[in-house]
Amino acid sequence: MTRPDSSPARRIDPRRYYEAVEARDPVAERPPVCLYLEVTNRCNLLCTTCPRTYEELEPPADMSWKLFTSIVDQVPDLARVVLHGVGEPMLVKALPRMVRYLVDRGVYTLFNTNGTVLGERSGRALIDAGLDELRVSLDASNARSFQEIRGKNYFNRILKNVRAFRALQEREGHSKPRVSAWLTGLKETVSQLPDFVRVAAEVGVKEVYLQRLVYFNEAAIGKAQPDQTLFEQMSGEEAQYLKEAERLAHALGVVFSASGAASEPGMSLRNSEGNSPWSLCRRPWSLMYITANGRALPCCIAPFSQHGYDHYTLGDATQQTMREIWNGPAYREFRKALLSDRPRAACAGCGLRWSL
Ligand SMILES: C[S@@+](CC[C@H](N)C(=O)[O-])C[C@H]1O[C@@H](n2cnc3c(N)ncnc32)[C@H](O)[C@@H]1O
Ligand code: SF4
Ligand code: SF4
Repeated sequence: MTRPDSSPARRIDPRRYYEAVEARDPVAERPPVCLYLEVTNRCNLLCTTCPRTYEELEPPADMSWKLFTSIVDQVPDLARVVLHGVGEPMLVKALPRMVRYLVDRGVYTLFNTNGTVLGERSGRALIDAGLDELRVSLDASNARSFQEIRGKNYFNRILKNVRAFRALQEREGHSKPRVSAWLTGLKETVSQLPDFVRVAAEVGVKEVYLQRLVYFNEAAIGKAQPDQTLFEQMSGEEAQYLKEAERLAHALGVVFSASGAASEPGMSLRNSEGNSPWSLCRRPWSLMYITANGRALPCCIAPFSQHGYDHYTLGDATQQTMREIWNGPAYREFRKALLSDRPRAACAGCGLRWSL
């Protein structure tokens, strides 16, 4: 892909990459600045918020090295790559090698992990590879709730892994990767927020994120249900938990914030997009999501919509070049619909501020 403008993505803040998009037109004026690469769709948990638990979206696979390098090599000036999709990236043996490949090219590299297989050897390999950010999804502040939400009894094991990893970093003076703990906001678990901050601090994690629940009204899955969301429907009591978590985080020296475009948790839970929440979305102009099998999707939200991959498959990276996909007919149609008042079904129930 060639870059038509003079502002290289290298200068883009990788944590605010979505701001790189200026104009929105069915034809994107610049190549993507961010990639989501689903290095595997395999997983060892059964999270009740995750589509993977309820449906086999694609045949089980790890992304091949050949596909991985071919994708990365075709996109110039990438600012950021997220090495997860729907699956557990740390199950992939080649993960540190993939991280190294990206970091050597100056790409800010991160992924979310469930933390279950973060051992000393795998942790050290990620440090050595230069990983920028490691986000540990915990979703609960205690073992019972963890089992309820994430389907397996691994809470204490994960805490042990994270504590040991942070201790290793401190002992050896590694400032990277930045390690954070994530809780997907559910009505069922919002009361745990203060304890969640406490638990994170106890294992040496200095950043805690409240993640907005992605859910869809139609064919909602597991606990990813409209009545579980905090978005626009937080009670006074629930807001108090948020306040208490903020106060505690401050006292413990922990940064407490929300995912996506919002910088403070309360804001990520309020609606500012009126009746067309999709209308501010810039993802199809700034990023691409490629599944382990090479399927191009518009974003990391679409897999949660349960409308079936066929509805928003925009190309096949094993058969087409990235440039052919990015401004090909399927992408152009998808963008056109998103700019209209009749977007695709996945977009119709979506919002700007969720980010995985
Ligand atoms: C699909 S997972 C893949 C990476 C890894 N397996 C993990 O759990 O961190 C990516 C992120 O999505 C979060 N997640 C799962 N279901 C969600 C939902 N319905 N809404 C928002 N985030 C969700 C997970 O907790 C995790 O932080
Ligand atoms: S959220 Fe992550 S750990 Fe949980 S089932 Fe989905 S991919 Fe696996
Ligand atoms: S599903 Fe949501 S995030 Fe994805 S392209 Fe549509 S509006 Fe944007």
